Amino acid sequence: MENGAPAWKFRGDEGLSAASAITVRGILQQLIANLDAGDGRVVVPLGHGDPSAFPCFRTTPVAEDAVVDAVRSAKFNCYGPTVGILPARRAIADYLSRDLPYKLSPDDVNLTLGCTQAIEAILTVLARPGANILLPRPGFPYYDARAKHSHLETRYFDLLPDKGWEVDLKGVEDLADESTVAMVIINPGNPCGSVYSYQHLKKVAETARKLGIMVITDEVYGHLAFRDTPFVPMGVFGSIAPVLTLGSISKRWIVPGWRLGWLVTNDPNGFLKDTGVLKSLKGFLDISSDPPTFIQGAVPHILEKTNDDFFSKIICILREAADICYGKIQEIPCIVCPNKPEGGMFVMVKLNLSMLDGIKDDLEFCLKLAKEESVIVLPGIAVGMENWLRITFAIEPSSLEDGLGRIKAFYERHAKK
Ligand SMILES: Cc1ncc(COP(=O)(O)O)c(C=O)c1O
Repeated sequence: MENGAPAWKFRGDEGLSAASAITVRGILQQLIANLDAGDGRVVVPLGHGDPSAFPCFRTTPVAEDAVVDAVRSAKFNCYGPTVGILPARRAIADYLSRDLPYKLSPDDVNLTLGCTQAIEAILTVLARPGANILLPRPGFPYYDARAKHSHLETRYFDLLPDKGWEVDLKGVEDLADESTVAMVIINPGNPCGSVYSYQHLKKVAETARKLGIMVITDEVYGHLAFRDTPFVPMGVFGSIAPVLTLGSISKRWIVPGWRLGWLVTNDPNGFLKDTGVLKSLKGFLDISSDPPTFIQGAVPHILEKTNDDFFSKIICILREAADICYGKIQEIPCIVCPNKPEGGMFVMVKLNLSMLDGIKDDLEFCLKLAKEESVIVLPGIAVGMENWLRITFAIEPSSLEDGLGRIKAFYERHAKK
């Protein structure tokens, strides 16, 4: 004991700070810390998928009114059941069933704190000793962080840039073994802006069936498909292999701060029940926190009453922004975009470092870009692809043009002579 202070026996878990360093938020914080406070220009945020601050992406008044009404009704000041209140689960079951060949029941639906908690729930449930899970590369790093924290082994299959970022299904088969429990797909894609066809999703389900694993489908960008390939939910193939659908209102309604998500079982054959997955899931939810009850109370109104005009407007803005983004990228010689985005909010571009002086990798590119141009772009390393960049086009089109113009100026300043 020194200076009268006892020898404290408590310590923080270092594993947790290591886990947060590999999340998108962790890396964005590093970039933000590198901004030059003396640069008078506004920061252009091309790094994250939250356009809610831009007026053109404001959510529908239908959703705002639903929340106000739910609060004013005083019916939702209580604790809710751990799986979520019945009217909200019923509304989500009906909403998702519109695109399925069978009807979901409210019992198939569990409410979560955004799609984030749905990921946490299923990875925790699957993390039996020795188990492994197959994740896409590039992917969404929260899966890695969560799996690692639960000691669930992660293995990576490639998404193929020259095939519209489809899953390398042969690679999936090669990776799987007796201890593989699930594979994850993200559709529409983050970070690639891909939208998978019906045929490709069917092949994913058939591969999963062959391997005896479930498909976890992250559809947080569900319906944000703005070109020829329509969004098809993976649940359509739930009778081929059990499918767990993760989603939320965060992206389609542009309200990520409302923290309302879901974890839904698409399993008409009941395999998830027979294998005890459902029971563990309920166990997880029983020891977790749930979304605020008044947001749950607003869900039926939000899902049933939002009109198509709002959805079409958002799709139009995203399509226009994706076009601007793709066009401007062609003017920047050191980055190449293999696929014009078809959905979601992001595009992946390959960085040609041989054209640049004094920049050794994607992280250095992004750190210098933040400092010199006040533009935030996510380095590919954060999503599992070194020397690529992930750029969001889900911002106000004029800011997008400004940001990409600054990347061009940055290139011109650092181009090899
Ligand atoms: C692929 C993916 N999954 C899940 C999430 C988290 O969604 P939510 O904000 O609903 O928690 C995000 C957020 O950006 C995401 O991109």
